[in-house]
Amino acid sequence: MNVVIRPDDASVTEAAYALVRDRLANRHCRVFGLPTGQTPRKLYSAMVAGYRRGELDFDTVQTFNLDEYLGLDAGHPGSFRHFMEVNLFAHVNIRSENIHFLDGLPEDIQAECHRYEWLIRECGGIDLQILGIGADGHIGFNEPTSSLASRTRDKTLTPRTILDNRGAFANEEEVPRWALTMGVGTILEAREILLLATGGSKAEAVAAMVEGPVTAMCTASVLQMHPRVTVILDEAAAARLQCDEYYRWMNENDPHLAAYLDARRQRYGRHTQPGNAS
Ligand code: F6R
Repeated sequence: MNVVIRPDDASVTEAAYALVRDRLANRHCRVFGLPTGQTPRKLYSAMVAGYRRGELDFDTVQTFNLDEYLGLDAGHPGSFRHFMEVNLFAHVNIRSENIHFLDGLPEDIQAECHRYEWLIRECGGIDLQILGIGADGHIGFNEPTSSLASRTRDKTLTPRTILDNRGAFANEEEVPRWALTMGVGTILEAREILLLATGGSKAEAVAAMVEGPVTAMCTASVLQMHPRVTVILDEAAAARLQCDEYYRWMNENDPHLAAYLDARRQRYGRHTQPGNAS
């Protein structure tokens, strides 16, 4: 796991945007998994601004959102589909047929979840999965005790998640109790993962994810098993990490390692990649 600590929210966005811009420039990186929520809002604004500056092109990009509330239609202002339209899709050149969502009003829940898994495979799998993290350590809506091998399915939200997500609704009562979500196993199949966390309310979950045991009580902790994960945090979200000095040291030294490997490559003509990130 490559843990990057930045002073504040704005510099988390900057670092995340730089990574996304780099991956979007690679024609082999075309399928993106996307989260909703407060955390990625600023990244999406940065992506819209980058598109307007001509830095990003979404023409051949496919997206899969992580989750959707059960019982809401796509046009509902609290739906994740609506969130994505308002914050990203309406402002960039993504093709509507390349935007993929779980249907919040499916006739058959199981068939809908199978359709989504099938479609992800049909598109060649997810190249970059972007994630936020819940205060209880969830990724997607994989709440504590979710199977670490789970696939896309329906999930009951915890009272805490319902409370945390009440912002898009008139009151807590209106927040749906259930959602469809990619499973932990589905998320782990992405080729690369970028997780963002900001603010002190995430500090405990971040520490459990990065330094705790791998456990279904904090489903994000399973990212320790993935070979290519970057976690970008602000100081507040990093506050409970025990090895924070090491992560900072590593971030400072990474450019030197890259320069050293470059020099060796030039001298010996071998292709050597930095390997210590994970
Ligand atoms: C949303 C999602 C969730 C959120 C998490 C953090 O699509 O998958 O896992 O990423 O609940 O939400 P915020 O960013 O609102 O704190």
